[in-house]
Amino acid sequence: MYQDKKSEHTLTLSKREMKDYGYKVIDIVVEHFATQHSKKPVSSGTRKEMDTIFQEDIPEKATAANEVLAHVVEKVLQQSNFLSHPKSFGFVPGPSNYISVMADTLATGFNIFSGGWAASPAASELEIVTINWLLKLFRFPTKKGGGIFTSGGSIANLTALVAARRHKCGDDFSKAIIYMSDQTHSSNIKAIRIIGFKRNQVRIIPTDMDFKISLNKLKSNIAKDRLNGNFPFCIIASAGTTNTGTVDPLEEISKICKVEKMWFHVDGAYGAAAILSKNGSQILNGIQYADSLTMDPHKWLFQPYEMGCLLVRNHKWLSNAFSEKPEYLRAFEGNESEINFYDHGLQLTRHFRALKLYMSLKIFGLNSFKKAIDYSIELTEEVEQLLRESPNIEVISSASLAIINFRYNPIHLKLSEKKLDALNQEISKQIVASREALLVTTILLGQVVLRMCLINPRTTLKDVKDTLSLCHSYAQEILK
Ligand SMILES: Cc1ncc(COP(=O)(O)O)c(C=O)c1O
Repeated sequence: MYQDKKSEHTLTLSKREMKDYGYKVIDIVVEHFATQHSKKPVSSGTRKEMDTIFQEDIPEKATAANEVLAHVVEKVLQQSNFLSHPKSFGFVPGPSNYISVMADTLATGFNIFSGGWAASPAASELEIVTINWLLKLFRFPTKKGGGIFTSGGSIANLTALVAARRHKCGDDFSKAIIYMSDQTHSSNIKAIRIIGFKRNQVRIIPTDMDFKISLNKLKSNIAKDRLNGNFPFCIIASAGTTNTGTVDPLEEISKICKVEKMWFHVDGAYGAAAILSKNGSQILNGIQYADSLTMDPHKWLFQPYEMGCLLVRNHKWLSNAFSEKPEYLRAFEGNESEINFYDHGLQLTRHFRALKLYMSLKIFGLNSFKKAIDYSIELTEEVEQLLRESPNIEVISSASLAIINFRYNPIHLKLSEKKLDALNQEISKQIVASREALLVTTILLGQVVLRMCLINPRTTLKDVKDTLSLCHSYAQEILK
């Protein structure tokens, strides 16, 4: 099988072989989707262990396809954390959905080039259509507005900052200053560094007790910079911080940006999807005034990796920042309404990401997405209630956009802060080592806390209760 010497150089399989292999792969994926809940979400392995399994010289000769598939299923896929698992509470999980997996398979199967209009008009059109759907949800102008799908939130934030800089600073950004809170996602700082700003061009503004950016400190920093002859040019607000799910005061920040003529970027990589919840437009009020907005369908819009998105109020801001016209792309240039997405971002060759969002929204319908998001917000509120009823647990940050932080703290034992930090770190370590749940820590107010991000609509209250029971058992053992 797969070893026809004459056609070896064509890297092809017969129709029969493709079907056999494809059905096997689909069976494996379907089995994973159907049984994931009963599996353990966590896997671990040292570099040494992985080297022992995988290190080998580049294979000159063919290996039987089924042998490679079995090796991959057993050794690669099973040795990975399942971030779509209902008990994956760490980081920002990726709940995914089967329709989009199939859509990605179609896009990859046809190897659609989603860079330029002429190469794939329908793919470009679907990106325009789905971006327009998102623009409408966020009450961005649909005529002038635009956007682009990216690999994820990090590249969306970077794309926003490049557009912001071009629009506000032109070529000289030596005096330009960017403002963000101490809870802003690290991808923003990374982007700022990559695109050539110096550290002293960034102001990290402290947050208040609710983990929201302090508006007074923000305003005083801007005023001070103006006095010193600097150029305050951009504020990055968070619509759902990664640590606590906090939404910065978006409306107030938008007003500051308007008065100060600054760019208003909102990083809503995971939290902006809450616009679909019952109280979405209230929770995220002010998001509609953003100049640019990062939101990641591969987080709370249930798409498989990689799919981030940047929306902008004016699509020209993207083309002004990213357009290049080399002679070898002349054939792609259509009329102005026919968007070449390679002119709107960094990538020339691009995966057809829009297809999965398009197909999953059409097949499930937006109402299912709305219900899924409401479910997670309500579940997190129920979990908060549960935690508050426990004498051993202290809630550190309330339920916010499906994130909650707490720590194990049996009050009667009067443990020191140092001991509490060590205890909670150890609880997380042991839960992860048990592989039963991905429950990891973060630091809030200088304390080690356990963090749950509950955006997976397949997570049940029982999943959470089981994990809390584990916390309790490990805590008892540790405290013995
Ligand atoms: C608020 C926020 N912004 C940006 C990112 C980075 O997104 P990505 O990992 O898709 O690059 C994350 C990731 O969790 C995030 O939570």
